[in-house]
Amino acid sequence: MSLLDVRLAAPGAGRAPTGVVVQPVRPGDEDGTEFAPVAEPVSDALAATAATYLGEVKHAGKAGEVRVLPRPGQRPSVLQLIGVGDGDAAALRKVGAAVVRSNSDATGVRVLVPTDADEDAVGGLIEGALLASYRFTLASKSEPPSLRRVTLVVEDPDRYAAVLARSVAVAKATHFARDMANTPSLTKDPAWLAAQAVKATGKHGVKAVVREPDRLAEEGWGGILAVGGGSARGPRLVELKWAPRGAKKHVVLVGKGITFDTGGISIKPFQGMHLMKKDMGGGAAVIGAILATALLQLPVNVTVLVPMAENMPSGSAYRPGDVVRHYGGRTSEIRNTDAEGRVVLADALAYAEKKLAPDVLIDLATLTGAQTIALGKRTAALYADDDALAKALTDAAEAAGERAWRMPLTEDYVEKLDSDIADVNNAPGGGAGSVTAALYLREFAGSARDRWAHIDMSGPSWSDSANDELTKGATGWGVRTLVRWLETLA
Ligand code: BES
Ligand code: MN
Ligand code: ZN
Repeated sequence: MSLLDVRLAAPGAGRAPTGVVVQPVRPGDEDGTEFAPVAEPVSDALAATAATYLGEVKHAGKAGEVRVLPRPGQRPSVLQLIGVGDGDAAALRKVGAAVVRSNSDATGVRVLVPTDADEDAVGGLIEGALLASYRFTLASKSEPPSLRRVTLVVEDPDRYAAVLARSVAVAKATHFARDMANTPSLTKDPAWLAAQAVKATGKHGVKAVVREPDRLAEEGWGGILAVGGGSARGPRLVELKWAPRGAKKHVVLVGKGITFDTGGISIKPFQGMHLMKKDMGGGAAVIGAILATALLQLPVNVTVLVPMAENMPSGSAYRPGDVVRHYGGRTSEIRNTDAEGRVVLADALAYAEKKLAPDVLIDLATLTGAQTIALGKRTAALYADDDALAKALTDAAEAAGERAWRMPLTEDYVEKLDSDIADVNNAPGGGAGSVTAALYLREFAGSARDRWAHIDMSGPSWSDSANDELTKGATGWGVRTLVRWLETLA
């Protein structure tokens, strides 16, 4: 799918073909609304009409609020009055999304950008437009949007060239992650998902190793093999590497890649099971993150690990009561085959700790329903023993327009992981399901546990409706946060 064409233009350059002009308005000093200053003002006559109209339609200037002033037979043929709120990146992200949503019938739009918008804010505007224009092309039920070009009129286009390139890279990577999670699991088995990851990133200099079941068995990846054992479509482990010359830090990103989660023998009820095609949202996000890292040529070493498996009930499925031997030798007693995400992640975390010498080890996973109960659908749960790492990641999420909230790794609950027959059990119970899942994973981070963070993004991975920069369906949650954070290391 081709990306919406967002371009920068100096005042007077590159006129919009359809004559739709977007004029930013903001809350004024008194209760009223005022035009935000722009580099290419509309005519005095039009400004006067628009000012009157603003009062009549009671425009509050709220970010993303749209009122349309049609001007039949004139140019511009439409003046669209969009609220920009306080004009920061978060506000302009909503504006970018609103520009796209309110112009699905136009082919091109000319957006007058407030002159006081800094690079970060303009980045938000671009990102909002690009992300809101996402369509899942496989679901071709909806007409393709006619909007192809958004021209941003700014005083000095060069000032924003870098942020435009950045936003395009982040959007491409987020679109990739959304495409992966939106793809039905009839198509999306582990082999397919692995091939997509290799193809999308390989073009941009990312090196890949894909382990198939034979090699996984030779090397002792017992968690991935157990979870993947019930499916006729065997598991994979994807390992991706971005290693630019001169980079010092090494970040390992691990993502849950369950291509479909039936629950296995501990089968899920049918309600909502179809949504479990998105149970590789964490994996898609870390693949998206390394894709953006490569597109932006960030000077940091990144390794991505995505254990991919389909969790199915069958004669060859793993069972409750089984003891699984993970990569490196730790064992799990399986109490619930539906707590499968942690079982595959355990292998990958253990491998990262033992073989990859990470400076930071982060995993992303649609791990628990409990996360959504705790924090809802727009805020992810973040766990880390290290305060600085937790803060850096929550700050990055906030700046990126995604949200994460730090949750406690309550020591009192560690004993719930006990097992009589293995090192830990995989379904502790007793409440705080997102917390105990994190505590389970921490065991496998081993000596890297003080450099490890876990993000449970079960709720935020999916949106039930179009909302600002999110489209209905997969959100690609995590790509933006990880890229923000990786940029702080560069
Ligand atoms: N993939 C699910 C978690 C999930 C549920 C994500 C709903 C998004 C929406 C995970 O594998 C799972 O089934 N977790 C169980 C764990 C329990 C059995 C300990 C859960 O949360 O119920
Ligand atoms: Mn499950
Ligand atoms: Zn799952």
